[in-house]
Amino acid sequence: MRLFLSALSFAAVASATILQNGQVRDVVYPDTTIASVADDQSWRTYGPNASEISYKGRWDNKHISWWSAPGLKFGFTGDKVAISFGNYTSPGVLVAYRVDGQDWMFTNVTGNSTHQLISSSTTGFNLTTQAQLPQTLELRVTNWAYGVQIAGAHVSSSGKLIKLPNYSKTIEVIGDSLSAGYSATYEGLSSYAWGLGAGFGNVEFSITAYPGICLVDANCWGNARGQAYQWYHTSDTSPRAVEIYGDNPEVWNFRKHPAADIVVINLGTNDNNTHNNITSEEYLRSYLEFVQGVHRVYPNADIILASLWNGFDPVGNSYAQVGAFIEEIQEVYNHYKQTGFVHYFNTTGIMQHNDIGPQYHPTDVGHIKVASHLMQYIKLNFGWELGATGPEIQHDTLYWNDRK
Ligand SMILES: *[C@@H]1O[C@H](CO)[C@@H](O)[C@H](O)[C@H]1NC(C)=O
Ligand SMILES: *[C@@H]1O[C@H](CO)[C@@H](O)[C@H](O)[C@H]1NC(C)=O
Ligand SMILES: *[C@@H]1O[C@H](CO)[C@@H](O)[C@H](O)[C@H]1NC(C)=O
Ligand SMILES: *[C@@H]1O[C@H](CO)[C@@H](O)[C@H](O)[C@H]1NC(C)=O
Ligand SMILES: *[C@@H]1O[C@H](CO)[C@@H](O)[C@H](O)[C@H]1NC(C)=O
Ligand SMILES: *[C@@H]1O[C@H](CO)[C@@H](O)[C@H](O)[C@H]1NC(C)=O
Ligand SMILES: *[C@@H]1O[C@H](CO)[C@@H](O)[C@H](O)[C@H]1NC(C)=O
Ligand SMILES: *[C@@H]1O[C@H](CO)[C@@H](O)[C@H](O)[C@H]1NC(C)=O
Ligand SMILES: *[C@@H]1O[C@H](CO)[C@@H](O)[C@H](O)[C@H]1NC(C)=O
Repeated sequence: MRLFLSALSFAAVASATILQNGQVRDVVYPDTTIASVADDQSWRTYGPNASEISYKGRWDNKHISWWSAPGLKFGFTGDKVAISFGNYTSPGVLVAYRVDGQDWMFTNVTGNSTHQLISSSTTGFNLTTQAQLPQTLELRVTNWAYGVQIAGAHVSSSGKLIKLPNYSKTIEVIGDSLSAGYSATYEGLSSYAWGLGAGFGNVEFSITAYPGICLVDANCWGNARGQAYQWYHTSDTSPRAVEIYGDNPEVWNFRKHPAADIVVINLGTNDNNTHNNITSEEYLRSYLEFVQGVHRVYPNADIILASLWNGFDPVGNSYAQVGAFIEEIQEVYNHYKQTGFVHYFNTTGIMQHNDIGPQYHPTDVGHIKVASHLMQYIKLNFGWELGATGPEIQHDTLYWNDRK
């Protein structure tokens, strides 16, 4: 064992480069910071409340982002785009952004700063055809616990922002760390919830998921409240939310945002943990109520109850999915079956034991499996089209056998 360890540290000293099957994995992202453009006549500035900016996921009245993979999108003209981040931006938070259907790019941002994300030399900048206009910028926050505050958007003085139409369908995933992408490569952007929402390519989506959170309104792993309470609020249960809002978060105004057509609920893995001291009766009661609550705010939504995989255990000479609250979730489903708007998504057989990483969460591959099956389930049951016919969804998955 000792020998093995020293061999490893030697390798680390010899090369600081992480190779994955022969390809370098970048962990240092380009610095996109520029000086303030407030007094620079070559820029035109829009406030964070500009109607051209479409915010995705949950953002509060101060334009601070919450939950997993929140983002924004707009069209633009001109040859440069920058975003200013307000003081409530988490230090060094990694954001993903892309121009049109180009691959995702990443940069770390910090509060009280301006970042130029697009110039005329940005890959893809000049590739837009007349039929593809306007050019678009989309930005997403990768980490669930961190967030950004938008202070403004800037384009060249001769350019402008353009409001984009929303897709007509909306999907929401309500979950915990499993849906937030905990320990996946790009966190929120590698989660199955992302793979599902972004994966459809032609739907709006929101991922109201936070690591450690329970369905039952109880303190679980330090999250003061459960989804039975928190989901009705704009912010999540992160320390930064507590810092900004204490125990009095903004109530989320469902009526001001497009209603979800499909809601996926993946909750209970934390309720099922003895650490959090929640009984199966409490879980069942809370789940029955929660489905009613979701139905109340989204009366036309189909609600999909995902069964909980809860890891894998060795069983005899093999492995088996552990599962959690199997009967309780069935009971919730049976209770609402007659209504027609509640559905059951059985996760057994989608992942195998090696699809769970060392931190007890799906690997990127595990996430992609769950997302792919959910997409097909939704296509078969609700007739949704698979609309992402080319542009990248999951970043940095191109490494297997790719020895260029
Ligand atoms: C944005 O906010 C500014 C100042 O806070 C206000 O003057 C302006 O009318 C607002 N614009 C929109 C589109 O709401
Ligand atoms: C950031 O803090 C500075 C100084 O307190 C203040 O002038 C500025 O308005 C703040 N910006 C935002 C976006 O809150
Ligand atoms: C950028 O973000 C990544 C992911 O959170 C982090 O590992 C890295 O340390 C950050 N870099 C900087 C310079 O903040
Ligand atoms: C924001 O940055 C400007 C200059 O870049 C600086 O003068 C100001 O003090 C900063 N404000 C805060 C709150 O850090
Ligand atoms: C895009 O077009 C502009 C102006 O037409 C030119 O200056 C720039 O070099 C082009 N960029 C790329 C990446 O081709
Ligand atoms: C699209 O939805 C977002 C989020 O609710 C909203 O901010 C934006 O105004 C909507 N866009 C249009 C064109 O309705
Ligand atoms: C666990 O929950 C039960 C019933 O809700 C309660 O009586 C008990 O005190 C709790 N134990 C701990 C350690 O919180
Ligand atoms: C978790 O779920 C399993 C399967 O339904 C059940 O047997 C077990 O009692 C539950 N454990 C806790 C702590 O809720
Ligand atoms: C879920 O699927 C597994 C594997 O096909 C099956 O054994 C199990 O009975 C299913 N569970 C429910 C509740 O339908």
